[in-house]
Amino acid sequence: MSSVQSLNANAQIMRRGNALLVNVNAAKGLQNVLRSNLGPRGTLKMLVGGAGQIKITKDGRVLLHEMQIQHPTACMIARTATAQDDATGDGTTSVVIFIGELLQQAERFISEGVHPRIMSDGFEIAKEAALKFLDSYKVEKPDILKKRDLLCNVARTSLRTKLTPKLADQLTDICTDAVLTVTKPGEPIDLHMIERMHMKHRSAASSRLVKGLVLDHGPRHPDMPRMVENCFICILNVSLEYEKTDVTSGFVYKNAAERQRMVSAERTFTDEKVHAIVALKRKVCTEENGKKFVIINQKGIDPLSLDILAKDGIMALRRAKRRNMERLSLACGGFQVNSVEDLKEDCLGEAGKVYEQVLGEYHYTIVEDVKHPQSCTILMKGPNPHSIAQLKDAVRDGTRAVKNAIDDLALVPGGGAFEIACHDYLLSILDTVKGKKKLGVKAFAEALLIVPKVLAENSGLDVMDTLISLKEEYKKAAKEAGCPKDTISSLLDDVCDEPSKSSGSIAHAYVGLDVNSGEPTHPPSSGVWDNFIVKRQFVQLSTVIASQLLLVDELMRAGRRMGKK
Ligand SMILES: Nc1ncnc2c1ncn2[C@@H]1O[C@H](COP(=O)(O)OP(=O)(O)OP(=O)(O)O)[C@@H](O)[C@H]1O
Ligand SMILES: [Mg+2]
Repeated sequence: MSSVQSLNANAQIMRRGNALLVNVNAAKGLQNVLRSNLGPRGTLKMLVGGAGQIKITKDGRVLLHEMQIQHPTACMIARTATAQDDATGDGTTSVVIFIGELLQQAERFISEGVHPRIMSDGFEIAKEAALKFLDSYKVEKPDILKKRDLLCNVARTSLRTKLTPKLADQLTDICTDAVLTVTKPGEPIDLHMIERMHMKHRSAASSRLVKGLVLDHGPRHPDMPRMVENCFICILNVSLEYEKTDVTSGFVYKNAAERQRMVSAERTFTDEKVHAIVALKRKVCTEENGKKFVIINQKGIDPLSLDILAKDGIMALRRAKRRNMERLSLACGGFQVNSVEDLKEDCLGEAGKVYEQVLGEYHYTIVEDVKHPQSCTILMKGPNPHSIAQLKDAVRDGTRAVKNAIDDLALVPGGGAFEIACHDYLLSILDTVKGKKKLGVKAFAEALLIVPKVLAENSGLDVMDTLISLKEEYKKAAKEAGCPKDTISSLLDDVCDEPSKSSGSIAHAYVGLDVNSGEPTHPPSSGVWDNFIVKRQFVQLSTVIASQLLLVDELMRAGRRMGKK
């Protein structure tokens, strides 16, 4: 009897064998939930919240976040998969499916008496080999920034797994252009500079990219222009209203005239600031240049100040969000001014068009046609909240995919091409792995095939037929491409040692599944690309978690104070 049991007769414990079974079943359960979502032909899931909220999605991240998962093992897998998404923005579903398959394959051998430690050692070798193989298999694209078409293909592959092909194609250009807008050579890409804004309006097909900014409020004075063209943008953080004092204070006056003097002195304080702005406007907006003037203020502007500004034809927006202020100066040029004394011509930004759009009770101001935008807004329109939510998640995935491609300067052919090639490679190195560990490598290689299998299954194809034709086609293509078995095996010499020098020179065959026809295809020609970093994380994370779960031999309920000091 174990010590825990003799200490507490009521302790809930699951022993070796049983613990493994529980873990495998949990992984299998989660895999079964998510497997129907994989790939462009996967089905959707409908999530219903406690208060009747509805979400329709096939995004693994959203499902795992929103589903109520009770089983601790399933919870752990879900956390790993969402960690994958946090790091790379994609690949959640694949990770869950792969972990489930790794455990199932391992269980087959363990039930025949192989120790879990041997399997996990085998997984480790296979992981290292697979990562090295991936390094040589990726297609390097050093000048990807100049190849917009290629980036569009990456975005399209990602978007088509989440939306209908028509809508995905429409958003492809939007996502690619948005990322290219915020990309500055030599600097890391900050996707926060792409604002994702939604409007409940018309259909998703009218979504568009605004190379500028969309603010969710309008000018507050009825006489102000609702649309101006060719204008200066003055970005302010100056209060143009009465301010309450921060300290407790009072005014003492003897008669009405004295009070009046105090009121007008206070008013003058604000008015002077407004007049300084108006003076600048008169100076820069002449009849000849025909320029207009727009103020976007982070602080408030009171009605009297608005009145003065409106009389001079200035469009003024108050209480803009702080995060928009930074974007605004990136989009239009110029910079934010904190005091009217610093107001100069060179702090002004410029925009081609600023106009208000009113949808029901919501007002939006759109700042467009800016000269050198470094920040932009994707304006998503949809008829109802759940289609807007779906669009938002898809756009997030699309932009992340393009960013990853630019960061990696490399891509991996999709449609299961990597999995099939890596499977073949791992089998080819099997003989060189000594002892029982090769069983682990074999299990890993078999588990990799789950991706093309599920892609075929979700497309309504015969899984075995498809897999065999894919494998045959790969063998044929590999032969033609000139990578005979012994050349591939030479990669192995360094599986556990130094990185391979020869790996870069091996010709690879790219054979993936065409989900529409069910035939083997050449993914690079059909523009199906996955991200390198996503595949890397996929191999790495899944193996680590599967090995850990294999090595669990006892599951016990810990006390309530677990984790507390
Ligand atoms: N047009 C296509 N033809 C064939 N396979 C495709 C195509 N587009 C994507 N795939 C494959 O689909 C898989 C990705 O599917 P999906 O995006 O649904 O899942 P995921 O990336 O694992 O998870 P998620 O995106 O939900 O986080 C990849 O293996 C990819 O190669
Ligand atoms: Mg995906």
